[in-house]
Amino acid sequence: MATTVGNRVRRSLESYQRANQLIPGATQLVSRRPTRYANGISPVYAEKAKGAYLWDVDGNRYIDWVSGIGSIILGYADEVVDDAVREQLSRGTVYSISHELELELAEELVNRIPCAEMVRYAKGGGEACAIAVRIARGTTGRDKVLFCGYHGWHDWYLAANLEQDAHLDEHLFPGIEPLGVPQALAGTAIPFPYGDLDMLGTILDEHRDQVAAIMMEPLRSEWPPEGYLEGVVKLAREHGVVLIFDEVSTGFRPSPGGAQARLGVTPDMAVFAKSISNGYAMGAVVGKREVMEPAAQMFISSTYWGDTLGLRAALTTLREITRRDVPGTLDQLGQNLIRELNQIADETSLDVRCAGVNYHPHLAFAGSDANEQRQLSTLYIQEMAKRGCHGYASFYTNASQDSAVLQQTLEAAREVFGLLATARSDGRLMELLECDLSQDFFRRLVD
Ligand SMILES: Cc1ncc(COP(=O)(O)O)c(C=O)c1O
Repeated sequence: MATTVGNRVRRSLESYQRANQLIPGATQLVSRRPTRYANGISPVYAEKAKGAYLWDVDGNRYIDWVSGIGSIILGYADEVVDDAVREQLSRGTVYSISHELELELAEELVNRIPCAEMVRYAKGGGEACAIAVRIARGTTGRDKVLFCGYHGWHDWYLAANLEQDAHLDEHLFPGIEPLGVPQALAGTAIPFPYGDLDMLGTILDEHRDQVAAIMMEPLRSEWPPEGYLEGVVKLAREHGVVLIFDEVSTGFRPSPGGAQARLGVTPDMAVFAKSISNGYAMGAVVGKREVMEPAAQMFISSTYWGDTLGLRAALTTLREITRRDVPGTLDQLGQNLIRELNQIADETSLDVRCAGVNYHPHLAFAGSDANEQRQLSTLYIQEMAKRGCHGYASFYTNASQDSAVLQQTLEAAREVFGLLATARSDGRLMELLECDLSQDFFRRLVD
């Protein structure tokens, strides 16, 4: 439905058309596809970003509530991090030999993350997950991996759909064909539902002595049920399985020591990326000595894992997260956002609730059915974009989103909630939509 004529994102849409001819899939990340937003209204191509704001190639300015799909935790183009990176840049980026920043960052991670005794690096989240799985398989001598949540694009994970093409439906999105993933991996990646300890125990029993790792997101945007993660730790111990927390999406928003420090539950290994380095390519695999040490005998090696720009960005970002009490700031921001949005919903008589963990709240629209909910959420995305707020029906927070940003967002939300309430009661939701319904692919068991 997206048209370019007279459109406020005309150049974005033209570039997207060109991209479809040049780049298979058009974007490098599924979450950047315009079909996930209000396609034709939401921006597709960025020109620049600073603090809480993003400018698109058509010159529109937005408050960015997606925070670089979670990779921005301090704010875009943070002066302290960027100055440190610039300083590093002037000394060279990668060398023929190692740089001691690798040790400095490892010490920083070991000091702040409960399970971290040894550390390896990566350039992104999916890659870090693949390294963690390799280490767990190499350490245990077993092949199978039980997983829950989203863990990137690599073969070990997509293998889940080889045996049963619906295995990833609840964890990633429906209908993924594991094209290009070797058939030989069938049966090696097995999903389990979040929150159900009995089911996890049953799956572990069925595959006794064959499971190398449980890879899971400890949470996404809701706190885990009481005692659940402790139960997972117990089951992992009983079955001699390496428990890996994928903390890529939560990162250091819950606490300076990650989600595990906040939850008081310590896995054997954990994976970080995204918010670790405020927008620079970087990932880390951390874990207990007995699990990590055998990795010295495994072939896990890549030129850019020692790239000093990522290392310097991560070290500086982590120190700034602590110095500025970013988790505390985000907690307060989210609390205010949730309270105010729910108040506005009541005042405008829109049946929507804002809920979830404070650092990543989301909106749940009540519709008469799933289709009406999608209409409401797409219309929300469309109308917020027109009012200078880019995002899904959720809020990925960062520390530069101050009270002025909050106020501007709330003013926009007041208008949009009012418009949605009237459109719904008048049966005009579809009429007001200027785009196709947003394809909210990422249905994950871990909310
Ligand atoms: C929990 C989780 N794991 C892994 C990944 C993959 O990270 P990347 O996109 O950096 O490869 C993501 C990305 O969204 C994620 O949220």
